[in-house]
This record gives sequence, C-alpha cells and structure tokens, in this order.
Amino acid sequence: MIKACIFDLDGVIVDTAKYHYIAWRKLANDLGFDFTEQDNEKLKGISRMDSLDLILSWGKVEKSTAEKEALATKKNEEYRSYILKMDESEILPGVLPLLEDLKNKGIRLAIGSASKNAPVIIQQLGLSHFFSTIIDGTKVEKSKPDPEVFLKAAVELDVSPSTAIVFEDAEAGVEAALRGGFHTVGIGDPSVLKAAHFIIPGFAQHNFPAILQGLGITA
Ligand code: BG6
Ligand code: MG
Repeated sequence: MIKACIFDLDGVIVDTAKYHYIAWRKLANDLGFDFTEQDNEKLKGISRMDSLDLILSWGKVEKSTAEKEALATKKNEEYRSYILKMDESEILPGVLPLLEDLKNKGIRLAIGSASKNAPVIIQQLGLSHFFSTIIDGTKVEKSKPDPEVFLKAAVELDVSPSTAIVFEDAEAGVEAALRGGFHTVGIGDPSVLKAAHFIIPGFAQHNFPAILQGLGITA
C-alpha cells in the first residue's frame, strides 16, 4: 500500500540543469576556463558547494573558503535571475496529471531536493498546493547519497519508507532513496540509474498505475 510519493525537483519536475549550466559556465569563464554540457551532468544531485569544488578542480583553480563562498553566492544570483522567470510552462511533461491523480487518491506528497532554491522554484511553477512539505538543501546536514533528505520528508509526511515512492534523476539520489528503504523510481538514463527498482524516461508515457506495475506493487 503506497501512502506517499517524494519527488526530487531538478530533473524530475523541471529541467533546471540548463540554468545551472549557464550560471556555472559564466563563473568558470570569468576564471579563465570552460567545461562542457557533458561535464555538467556530473553536477546533477550534488550540493552547490560540492559542485563548485568539482568545477574549480576541472579548471585547476584553488580558492580560499571565503572566496568560494563569494563565488557560490555570485553563481546563485545569476541562477536566480533565470529561475525567477520560470512559469508553469516549464513543468516537465506528465508531471501535472500525475500530481493531480496522486492528490485525488489521497497520496501524500513531498519534495526532497538538494537545492536551497527548491521552495521558490515550486512557487514559480505554481505547484505549492500539491506538496505537504519541501525538504530542501537548507534543512539537511548530509547531502545525497545520504538518505537524510528523504527520511526527513517521510517523517514530515508521517509515513514509513516502505510505503513511499521516491522519484530521482541523479545517481546519488537513487542511492539515497535505496539506502533509506524507499521504493525507488529512476527518471532518465538506465545506464546511470541502474540501481533503481524501476526506471522510466519521464512521466509522459507512465501514469501512476504503470509505475506501480513497474515496481511490482499491487494497488
Ligand atoms: C540539485 C541539482 O537539485 O540542487 C544540483 O541537481 C544543484 O545540480 C543542487 O547543485 C543545489 O542547488 P542550489 O539551488 O541550492 O544551488
Ligand atoms: Mg535531480
């Protein structure tokens, strides 16, 4: 019996990776190096500071802690200039009908995201009313693949992980969900997300009954 669904945000509900890429690339270019969209894939699901450390290592640039704080703040200001222009047209295909179906069925919904911008993105997309709680990067001490973000969401929703599904597009997020004991659906590339219990390309072709079937759960 499934009582709750916990959604990662970036790459599951909306494609923000393109905006992260523009903002991180600007920072790298200002520091005198570049990185590709393929490199950008490695930043999915990981925190802002871990992303910065990785990017600086690609450019072989060393910075003090204070300088890194300033760079991360600057990148976030640039990133926010894009996300503050987003609206419901950027919700990924199939997400809205799925959320409506889950809500009608009385299934409790949460966001479990590494992003400190998660609440403002959900608001921009007009989805706030669907989610009982948003556990974002400001509410956890340990990043994915630690299960903390999803376990906190389950506590807030008052459900046990064995009665909840996590939807994730990042390898670290899939690992976090599995470690937390959740039914785990990977959204995206099967070669990256192979540890998940069920993998789909997105929600356009897969409604809730199809997802339950894929997980081997009888409603
Ligand atoms: C995750 C993204 O959801 O959030 C990562 O996949 C990003 O790429 C992380 O680094 C942190 O985001 P923010 O909005 O707090 O900088
Ligand atoms: Mg993601």
